[in-house]
Amino acid sequence: MKNFTFYNPTKLIFGKGQVEQLRNEIPKYGKRILLVYGGGSIKRNGLYDQITAILKDLGAAVFELSGVEPNPRLSTVHKGVDICKKEGIELLLAVGGGSVIDCTKAIAVGAKYDGDVWDIITRKASPQDAVPFGTVLTLAATGSEMNSGSVITNWETKEKIGWGSRLSFPKFSILDPVNTYTVPKDHTVYGMVDMMSHAFEQYFHHTPNTPLQDRMCESLLRTVIETAPKLLEDLQNYEYRETILYCGTMALNGILGMGAEGDWATHGIEHAVSAVYDIPHGGGLAILFPNWMKYCLDENVGRFKQMAVRVFDVDTNGKSDREVALEGIQKLREFWNRIGAPNRLADYNIDDSNIGLMAEKAISNGPLGRFKKLSKEDIAEIYRMSL
Ligand code: NZQ
Ligand code: ZN
Repeated sequence: MKNFTFYNPTKLIFGKGQVEQLRNEIPKYGKRILLVYGGGSIKRNGLYDQITAILKDLGAAVFELSGVEPNPRLSTVHKGVDICKKEGIELLLAVGGGSVIDCTKAIAVGAKYDGDVWDIITRKASPQDAVPFGTVLTLAATGSEMNSGSVITNWETKEKIGWGSRLSFPKFSILDPVNTYTVPKDHTVYGMVDMMSHAFEQYFHHTPNTPLQDRMCESLLRTVIETAPKLLEDLQNYEYRETILYCGTMALNGILGMGAEGDWATHGIEHAVSAVYDIPHGGGLAILFPNWMKYCLDENVGRFKQMAVRVFDVDTNGKSDREVALEGIQKLREFWNRIGAPNRLADYNIDDSNIGLMAEKAISNGPLGRFKKLSKEDIAEIYRMSL
């Protein structure tokens, strides 16, 4: 293992009816609240009414920023920063999926910064302070509810950049599986692909002696694989939603990655596709990850074989390690196909015309990949394998 320090200050509040805990959490921070949400799902499923009623009982002065886009945009972050500065917001409350939460994180630091928050996102400035924020999660996917990461798209320059700071952890996050009942099938699938991808990103590394980390990743993957088909047949099943919601948080709250150096190239490769074509993150990962695996197989065939055997129950009898490893990757492809995830860039009408541009964008913040360091040409080849 590598030496590590684990830091995660987010208070996680999980389970049915837990939105009521807002009554205890909000008064700790103040009365001037900016409610941040997306394109209206929370109005359609009643969560908006439930939360605004609680805020009213608390006597809060509520301001709103609605319309946060999937793949949240810098222009929307700017709107939130302006409201915070003008209205003296004391607490941000993000109600939604990863996009709403990521946008809120950028607003939180931008509101305490004199320049353009893009400086912070692009690491030209480091944040010194932040408005506190809490979240009510409505979609199991990113883990943003319990990590400090945030991914923001500058639509003018077509850049999608991940950033994070010790100031960008939520103070609290409320996770009620019931609030995920209305997530449609496609986004439920993208979310499950995303959390599995987070486990893969942390699984493929060269750090020696990580037996518990390996098995935690493997059991998270097996749990999603076992639950996904049942959930997709029964979208309002409490226990399946609960399992997947918990998996999403555990996949990216720092616990799986302790003491090892994950790869994370595929996320960078996908973000460049989303930046240019605005596709859902999980959809892009479903297309790219198996091809990244094939491309990087020879970095450590044994690790891919371990995944094949322990996660996908591949029979090793009479097969070379490489054959076993390749069969594991094929089983992943088949599993994602079976649950309805996209498998080619053509599924999003993406052809080879922007491969060079996307590869350029993918490495614009430096080279990608710690399991295998990828050049621009390597990345272009992974895109070509995915057409
Ligand atoms: O906008 P609304 O109307 O709320 O609709 C959303 C959106 O259209 C809908 N939705 C969310 N909850 C729902 C619901 N619909 C019905 N019922 C509900 N309960 O789902 C759509 C997608 O939402 P979004 O928030 O975009 O999805 P997700 O949570 O997958 O977030 C994706 C974003 O997070 C970034 C991605 O790159 C992408 O920009 N990521 C953030 C990470 C992080 N902060 O740690 C890590 C990830 O790897 C990822 O990169
Ligand atoms: Zn992801």
